[in-house]
Amino acid sequence: MENLDQIVARAQAEFLAAADAAQLEQAKARYLGKSGCISELFKALGKLSAEDKKSAGAPINQAKQTVEAALEARREALKAAQLEAQLAAEALDVTLPGRGNPQGGLHPVTRTLERIEALFRSIGFDVADGPEIETDWHNFTALNTPEKHPARSMHDTFYIENAPEVLLRTHTSPVQIRYMQAHVERHRGAAVMPPIRIIAPGRVYRVDSDATHSPMFHQVEGLWVGEGVSFADLKGVVADFLRSFFETDELSVRFRPSFFPFTEPSAEIDVGFISGALKGRWLEIAGCGMVHPNVLRHGGVDPERYTGFAFGFGPDRLAMLRYGVNDLRLFFEGDLRFLSQFR
Ligand code: DAH
Repeated sequence: MENLDQIVARAQAEFLAAADAAQLEQAKARYLGKSGCISELFKALGKLSAEDKKSAGAPINQAKQTVEAALEARREALKAAQLEAQLAAEALDVTLPGRGNPQGGLHPVTRTLERIEALFRSIGFDVADGPEIETDWHNFTALNTPEKHPARSMHDTFYIENAPEVLLRTHTSPVQIRYMQAHVERHRGAAVMPPIRIIAPGRVYRVDSDATHSPMFHQVEGLWVGEGVSFADLKGVVADFLRSFFETDELSVRFRPSFFPFTEPSAEIDVGFISGALKGRWLEIAGCGMVHPNVLRHGGVDPERYTGFAFGFGPDRLAMLRYGVNDLRLFFEGDLRFLSQFR
């Protein structure tokens, strides 16, 4: 029969051989479990006399404690090994290069609008805005655009079904009316109305789509109303703005007679480049004119006392010229290969 030392040695060897906690618990059961061999030895003591129990029991107790200590040691060792393995598996390789932080950038049209705003602010203009869903009255009627005017036709304008009195604004000019009305209201009762000097950049909508037209595009409206404002002021402001915008004095500005219902007289503004890539070309860049008395009246401004000029730029066009882009649609397709060039 196996002696106690052999049992202890076998238990120690089996504990050491256990590869994980489950195997270790099975090995433990074989020695210390209910019918484990050490537990059986204790049961056998029951048949001995009290005297013999004492002398036989002490070495069994000793063996049991040794086995328990071996078990505990192996438990600790397995736990430590498992932690070690987990740490190794989850280790961060701090020498890996980082993933970087991709840099976004402003859209070229946004950059252009910000530039236009900064230039006009520097000569005392405020920046105003108005709703993109506009009333028919603000968009057309108040701007002296008669009922049968072709600009109102379904071919030009996005109307809204079942709501004939509203539409997607076709230009930023209705901001002229809204701003004048609010300004007059603010200064009601004052001896003199302070001059109105604003630009109104924003989105406008027309049923139009090709390389130089998009159904949504941008305009920048300008309005200066006060006592004694003349066409000479208009020419000065516009010429100065264009030279600042293109950062060159090497350009000519031409005012070509035209027609708009909301201005009288009216003109188109052409820019002629004297040098650079666009040398020798004239490009139409804006409409403008002296604000029509009916428009001033709709804004609540007395046309006998005040005069004003207005203009409407196409900033998308300005952005195309400044950045040398030849297809307007590129601005609105959201293609990062195109857009990331402007970061
Ligand atoms: N609203 C005009 C358009 O969309 C542009 C324009 C022309 C605006 C002359 C003006 C102006 O303020 O005076 O075609």
